[in-house]
Amino acid sequence: MEMLASPLASSARLPRLTNQDKEQQMSERPKIFVKPNGSIRVTGAVDFVDADGNVIETKENFSLCRCGNSKEKPYCDGSHREAGFQG
Ligand code: FES
Repeated sequence: MEMLASPLASSARLPRLTNQDKEQQMSERPKIFVKPNGSIRVTGAVDFVDADGNVIETKENFSLCRCGNSKEKPYCDGSHREAGFQG
């Protein structure tokens, strides 16, 4: 009698992560860069939560103002250049 492998049993196994998989996961983690004389650049997906911890929006790849001159706060609109922001 021929034994067949159960598709359920094989799909229930956890996959072993390769180094490439781990690098992929690391590259998907959000990162924050403070740009000289400019904005705070956020890469990757980030949840915005309210005071109660509810996710109100998820955004990817955006820049936050740190000069105080943006008309689109909290996001950077490039006004830091005209303002000559140093920081
Ligand atoms: S940092 Fe860009 S407008 Fe403020």
